[in-house]
Amino acid sequence: MTAKFIVIEGLEGAGKSTAIALCQQFLTSQQIEFINVREPGGTPLAESLRDIVKAEHQESVASETELLLMYAARSQLVHNIIRPALAKGKWVLGDRHDLSSQAYQGGGRGIDRTTLQTLSAMVLKGLQPDLTIYLDIDPVIGLARAKGRGTLDRIEQEAVSFFERTRARYLELAESDERIKTVNANQDIAAVHRDITQVLEYFFQGLN
Ligand code: TMP
Repeated sequence: MTAKFIVIEGLEGAGKSTAIALCQQFLTSQQIEFINVREPGGTPLAESLRDIVKAEHQESVASETELLLMYAARSQLVHNIIRPALAKGKWVLGDRHDLSSQAYQGGGRGIDRTTLQTLSAMVLKGLQPDLTIYLDIDPVIGLARAKGRGTLDRIEQEAVSFFERTRARYLELAESDERIKTVNANQDIAAVHRDITQVLEYFFQGLN
C-alpha cells in the first residue's frame, strides 16, 4: 500500500490536538509507520516562519504577506519532510495543511481564489492529502476554548466575523471535495471521537 497523507483541520479550539492523538492511536493500531507534522512549521526554517506569522509586530501585517509566509513555510515542509517521508513509505499525519490557507487567507482575509490556486499549484505540484478531517466548530465556542489555554496570538485575536468567514469557506470547500470529511466538533467529546473513528474506519475500508 502506498503511504498516505492525512490532515486534521479546524478553527482554533476545535479539538485538533485530541483528534490527532486519536489518529495516532488508530494508525499505531493498524501497525502503520507515520510521522507527525504541523503547519505552519515542521522544519527549522518553517518553525521560524511560524513564530513570525503568529507574533504581533510594530506594523500591520498585509494579508498578502501573511499568505506568502504560510506558503513559504509549506514549501519547506513539503520539500524537506512530507515528500521524502511519503517516498519512503511513511504515512504523514498533518496538523493543518493547504486547506487552512484556503479558509483563513481566502475566506477570512478575502484573498482571491485565483491567487490561492496559483500559489498552491506552485508549492504543492499536485500533492494532495488523501484524507482531511475538518472539525467544524462554532467560532464563539472555539475561541472561548482557545482563550482558556492562555494568551491569544495575532491571528487568534481577530474578530469573530473573521472566523465566521473562515468557517464558511471551510464548509464550502469540504462540501465540494469528497476527500474532506466534516466532523461536528460542537458535540460532546465522546461523540466527536466516535465520528472521527468512523471516518478513519471508512477510509481504511476503502484502501483494502
Ligand atoms: P495552530 O496550528 O496552533 O492552530 O496555529 C496556526 C495558526 O495559523 C492558526 O491561527 C491558523 C493559521 N493558519 C493560517 O491562517 N493559514 C495557514 O495556511 C495555516 C497553516 C495556518
